Amino acid sequence: MSSQIIPVEEFDLVVFGGTGDLAQRKIIPALYHRHLDGQIVGTSRIIAVSRKPLSPKEYLTKAKEALEEFIPKEDRDPKAVKTFLERLSYVAVDVTDDAGWKELKTKLDDFPDRVRAFYLAVAPSLFGQICEYIGKTGLITDKTRVVIEKPIGKDLASAKALNDAVGKVFREDQIYRIDHYLGKETVQNLMALRFANALFEPIWNAAHIDHVQITVAESIGVGSRGPYYDTSGAMRDMVQNHILQLLCLVAMEPPMSMNADAVRDEKLKVLRSLDPITGEKAEKQTVRGQYTSGAGPEGAVPGYLEELGDTTSKTATFVAVKATVGNWRWAGVPFYLRTGKRMPQRSSEIVVSFRPIPHSIFETGAGGVAENRLVIRLQPDEGVKLWLMIKDPGPGGMRLRHVPLDMSFADAFEVRSPDAYERLILDVIRGNATLFMRRDEVEAAWEWVDPILQAWEETGDTPKKYTAGTWGPAASVALIERDGRTWHDDD
Ligand code: BG6
Repeated sequence: MSSQIIPVEEFDLVVFGGTGDLAQRKIIPALYHRHLDGQIVGTSRIIAVSRKPLSPKEYLTKAKEALEEFIPKEDRDPKAVKTFLERLSYVAVDVTDDAGWKELKTKLDDFPDRVRAFYLAVAPSLFGQICEYIGKTGLITDKTRVVIEKPIGKDLASAKALNDAVGKVFREDQIYRIDHYLGKETVQNLMALRFANALFEPIWNAAHIDHVQITVAESIGVGSRGPYYDTSGAMRDMVQNHILQLLCLVAMEPPMSMNADAVRDEKLKVLRSLDPITGEKAEKQTVRGQYTSGAGPEGAVPGYLEELGDTTSKTATFVAVKATVGNWRWAGVPFYLRTGKRMPQRSSEIVVSFRPIPHSIFETGAGGVAENRLVIRLQPDEGVKLWLMIKDPGPGGMRLRHVPLDMSFADAFEVRSPDAYERLILDVIRGNATLFMRRDEVEAAWEWVDPILQAWEETGDTPKKYTAGTWGPAASVALIERDGRTWHDDD
């Protein structure tokens, strides 16, 4: 089975931070894949911009390196690579002074009427300045968009300041805030599952759902990202954005349509309905952890403090939270959220656990009746499993078994799962903002997160230690077991 490829209209995409890590690792490879599939057509151009005084040839060598490193060999079609590289060019622009802006304008003036997107793949501290220059150089046309990415602030106040700086130059409908989790196939599938099937919606509420779990586990540590990560920690790095976005997609009311504002209005209502976790509640409803040396995927690994070279850091590399959504649909249904670095495996999933049956007709010898669970697996091995009770096959009497009705996407569809950035960048060109965060969403998420961070700050406690290669501190298990539930284990 193959998916339908619809070419996008011709565009100019200007990538600030064009030689940086995000451009090399994600943006250039994503664009190559879309080019390979014939979705980028005509004279569409990708203009990389950075401070470095590179010649066009030097830049192309860098872009080629990105393709060699991040595109599997079997997808590197020599003809496609050549025609893709022909779309690329480079302009050296110092974003803090006038140099280079004129050259960029001359270039963009070749096609004043096409879609023009500015991707700010740079540190957020530069967003304001770059936008100001884009504005004052006269680069904004009717079809101009700007793309920014997290971290959008480190708290509500700084997020507002950043949004104000970008909003001074661009209208809200021109601003595309990426949360790359929203571009993941299975995350979009969550919407298909909920709203393209009549089966789930009638039971998608507190009357039938006991609780929800959202786990985003990574086996990697912070590695060389320590200096950034230490100012952030798991709450800001993963919960404020990716995990809360997942929670929104699980908990939101059916939007009127897939229209960007219809979807985002519903997500916003969820964020605003999250019950605040302040002061003492933070102690009861959250757990923080920090990994110590232990086992990584390829052998022994150092602890966070050793990697960081700072023994005093209180930054959490693991967080578990018991969140509740205060509205009619979800009253009394806990959402257990957890994320961490250096977990035993990379594994992200949403588990919707249904209520137990009201009465068992089976004899004790048949075994217990476990609850139904819908497991939406985001990565790796994307797919959906519905855990059901069945009769153990065979003539040996009535014995019950909990087994999954298993749909692995890799087995069901013979198409490669595109990287989130492929979908998201082309959505920017199409002008479809459904999978991007609106300003009010980002700020509502901070409004919920800020008091938790503040409560942690006030207690001054250090995060609980957990050994690399384990599922976080024991307190995380206690958090859910206190309520008579357990973290889902697929094995
Ligand atoms: C990023 C975080 O937003 O998401 C990283 O800053 C994290 O710390 C990454 O590793 C996880 O993304 P993915 O797509 O690999 O699950």
